[in-house]
Amino acid sequence: MSLVAGRVTVTVPATSANLGPGFDSLGLALGLHDTLHAEVIAGGLEIEVTGAGADSVPRDESHLVVRSMRQAFAVLGENPSGLRLTCENVIPHARGLGSSSAAIVGGLALARALVRDGRERLTDDELFELAAEIEGHPDNVAPAVYGGFTISGNDDAFYAVTAPVDERLSAVVFIPPTGVETKVARGLLPAEVPHADAAANSGRAALMVAALGFAPDQLHRATRDYLHQDYRRPAMPESLALVDALRADGIAAIVSGAGPTVLAFVVENADELLARTPAGWVSHHLRIDTAGVRASLA
Ligand code: HSE
Repeated sequence: MSLVAGRVTVTVPATSANLGPGFDSLGLALGLHDTLHAEVIAGGLEIEVTGAGADSVPRDESHLVVRSMRQAFAVLGENPSGLRLTCENVIPHARGLGSSSAAIVGGLALARALVRDGRERLTDDELFELAAEIEGHPDNVAPAVYGGFTISGNDDAFYAVTAPVDERLSAVVFIPPTGVETKVARGLLPAEVPHADAAANSGRAALMVAALGFAPDQLHRATRDYLHQDYRRPAMPESLALVDALRADGIAAIVSGAGPTVLAFVVENADELLARTPAGWVSHHLRIDTAGVRASLA
C-alpha cells in the first residue's frame, strides 16, 4: 500500500500571465493562494468548496481538481478507494489570475502528496508538463509550479525556465466585479499583426526580463504590449481605461493574463496605488510568490 494515511494539504499561488509583451509566455506567481486538502477514504468522492466558485463548481468527477488528481494517479499507477477533497478557494475565477491553473497544479500536487514516494515518481518538471497538457498552455501553470517569474512556451514539448525577480518588487492587483472568459478574450485577437508591432513587442519582451530581474526603472517601458491588450479592449473597457490612466502617470500597469484584472508593479509604496481602486472593484497588494506549489502532511 503506497498511499499516505491521513490528510495532505497543498497551497498553490495565483499567477499573472503575459505581463504585457510576453503573450502566452511570461508568467509571475503572486502571494495569493488557494489551499486544498485531500485524504483517501474507504469509498466514494466527497467534495467541499468554500470561497471563489463555491456556488458554481461541480461536486463530482468533473471538478477540475479531481480530474487533475485522477490524471496524476494514473501516471503514478495508483487508484485510491475513495477521496475526500476540501478546497478553500481564494483566487477569483475568470479574472486572469490563473485559477484554473491553480486547480490543475493543486490537484496534481495533491495526488502526488498522497503517494508515499510521489515526488520521486512524478518530479516537478513532469508535473509541469502534465499540468500544461491539461491546461493546454504553460504560461500560468509554470509559475504555479515553480514560483517566481517564468518564461515558458511550447515547441515540440512544453518548456519553462525561472528567471530572477528584483527583491524590491511587489504588485497591486485590481479585480473587477465581473469576469471575462479567456475564450472570449482570445476570440478578439487578430490572425496577423503588423511587422512593426511584432518587432516592437519583441524588444519589450526582452527588456522585461531585465526589468523584472534587476532594472525596475525600465518596467514602464518594458510592460508596453503590442499584441493583445488593445485588441481586447471591447471585452474589458474599464480595465483598459485603468491601465491607460495608470500608465499615463508613469506606473507599469498591464492586463493580467486574458483579463480583466489589472496588475501594477510596485517598487516602493503601494498605498497611492490602492487608493486608485475603482468603485466596486477589489484590490490587493501582493508579494511575489517564490515557492510555487507546496504540499505538507495534515
Ligand atoms: N496568455 C493567455 C491569453 C492567458 O492572454 O489569452 C493565460 O494563459
